[in-house]
Amino acid sequence: MRPRAVQTRVPAPVLVREAAPADIPAMAQLHVQNLPVGLFPRLGHHFVACWHRAYLDSPHALALVVDGPGQEGEQGIAGFLIGALDREAYRHELLTRYRTRLIVRAAGALVLRPRVLASFLRTRLRPYLRGLRAPRHTPSVPPGAVGTAAVAELTAVAVAPALRRTGSGRVLTNEFIDRCARADVRRIELVTDVGSAGSVEFYRRTGWTALRRIHTRDGRTVQRFVRWTDAPEES
Ligand SMILES: CC(C)(COP(=O)(O)OP(=O)(O)OC[C@H]1O[C@@H](n2cnc3c(N)ncnc32)[C@H](O)[C@@H]1OP(=O)(O)O)[C@@H](O)C(=O)NCCC(=O)NCCS
Repeated sequence: MRPRAVQTRVPAPVLVREAAPADIPAMAQLHVQNLPVGLFPRLGHHFVACWHRAYLDSPHALALVVDGPGQEGEQGIAGFLIGALDREAYRHELLTRYRTRLIVRAAGALVLRPRVLASFLRTRLRPYLRGLRAPRHTPSVPPGAVGTAAVAELTAVAVAPALRRTGSGRVLTNEFIDRCARADVRRIELVTDVGSAGSVEFYRRTGWTALRRIHTRDGRTVQRFVRWTDAPEES
């Protein structure tokens, strides 16, 4: 009897790369559909695309993607990550270089979304007005460099539902941690919504340390995590 051919499915390696401008619409779509928490995703794809663009352009931030099948079979992305290598320097840049275009986009989006506008006026107007004032002092960090005690921030990571549990989230976050280490940043922080699909478990199991839980202005509970770039990943 001839032996039957045994088919073994070897998962394809997950390849991560820096995002290009052409990836932004797909990144924005993944973000709005899979991470609809907080104000920014509720402002819609156009606003989120404008916000993601800042991560691609800024020397203090990073946008990563893993390729995957897109809608209708064409090349798309399976997941993305956005984060700041130096949170304070990036925030300063947002409030100077990107402030006007983000405010214009946000205002346009809020006019079209009366419920989001009402919630914004109730919970965020005052803190945002305070925060949006241009910083009085320019940080001494030159573009592309990070301060000695810089803290990085992993802002968002999301993987398409059909492609979860195949290692994309781990590869994206590991690449971000490597980039932070190469930029001499030791501490990375993030917050994640405790209601978001598996995210707390994901960070716990990939070597992040849980800090306090916080209740947000709009009634959500978020979990803070920290990670040191010289700490080994756990499993
Ligand atoms: C969180 C998220 C990015 C993880 O992406 P992923 O590609 O599925 O993660 P990985 O396959 O790399 O998982 C790595 C490990 O994390 C753990 N993990 C991931 N998802 C998990 C879940 N839902 N439940 C329990 N553990 C989980 C597992 O230990 C996993 O390893 P294993 O599959 O070998 O057991 C993805 O679930 C997602 O996009 N969620 C919605 C958006 C979100 O909440 N993002 C995080 C907030 S910023």
